[in-house]
Amino acid sequence: MVRETELSVSQLVYPLFISASTTGRTPIPSMPGVDHLGIDAAVDEARSVQALGIPAVLLFGLPAAKDEEGSGAWDDEGIVQLATRAIKSACPDLLVFCDLCLCEYTTHGHCGVLSGTAVDNDATLELLARTAVSQARAGADAVAPSDMMDGRVGALRRALDEEGLEDTPIIAYSAKFASAFYGPFREAADSAPAFGDRRGYQMDPANGAEAVREAVLDADEGADMVMVKPALAYLDVIRRVKEATGLPVAAYNVSGEYAMIKAAAERGLLDERAAVLEALTGIRRAGADIVITYHAKDVARWLDQ
Ligand code: PBG
Repeated sequence: MVRETELSVSQLVYPLFISASTTGRTPIPSMPGVDHLGIDAAVDEARSVQALGIPAVLLFGLPAAKDEEGSGAWDDEGIVQLATRAIKSACPDLLVFCDLCLCEYTTHGHCGVLSGTAVDNDATLELLARTAVSQARAGADAVAPSDMMDGRVGALRRALDEEGLEDTPIIAYSAKFASAFYGPFREAADSAPAFGDRRGYQMDPANGAEAVREAVLDADEGADMVMVKPALAYLDVIRRVKEATGLPVAAYNVSGEYAMIKAAAERGLLDERAAVLEALTGIRRAGADIVITYHAKDVARWLDQ
């Protein structure tokens, strides 16, 4: 009766990795329990996610081919666009969010186009805008820019509005830190940078006030929801961003956070169910309205018991 925080399946988002070179399912070694999915398998997965009561999926694409600019990201017949259409036609009531970034599509693995060895922020905005329009036209219920270029939320909002897509919301990865906890994802998404790192555009883990500034800027540029990522080492940031923006806040319980619990549970060092429910409840207590997590299907089953 006196519990202050509820964790419910209605707050969860389940990420899917859709691969153009997979048919069926292929396990992702760095993320036990998570698979690369061909389009048909992604539709099956979407059906089971919906049956569990999870309201949304977040799509990541592994294209058949990459290039310098990441043109697979805005290909109307690209892997995420095809998967979005297939999932929306099979499960119209399941929300499809599309991660919006170039790193899975560029040969160099950076989140934007290069000028020399640095990412060209402003040239990248145009490519992200094309991608947002293409994803929204394919039926995305929201686009989720994870690139961390400056000014991209405003650029995406203008591009979507100009194309008559003013109803497509933007979920901005606003406070995205340059984190070691993305390691397993980069193997899963084949998106590790070929040289250097992402510290030019992702945030310094030491900076909380800057995270709040980034989130407020995104809100001013028209973000409908803001995100803090990773979640567990940044619970104070979740709270501060919630208080500063008043917007719905999503927290991304990232691949490394998932893999740590999975690995410890496999070795018998942790009780997986208790640890996951405690971690996600903590993320909610910090102020997250929505939690993006690879544990979503397990949590849905546990909460249902
Ligand atoms: C793409 C992107 C990343 C994640 C989500 N979108 C990786 C990165 O920035 O390197 C990480 C998700 C996870 O670790 O679960 N930019």
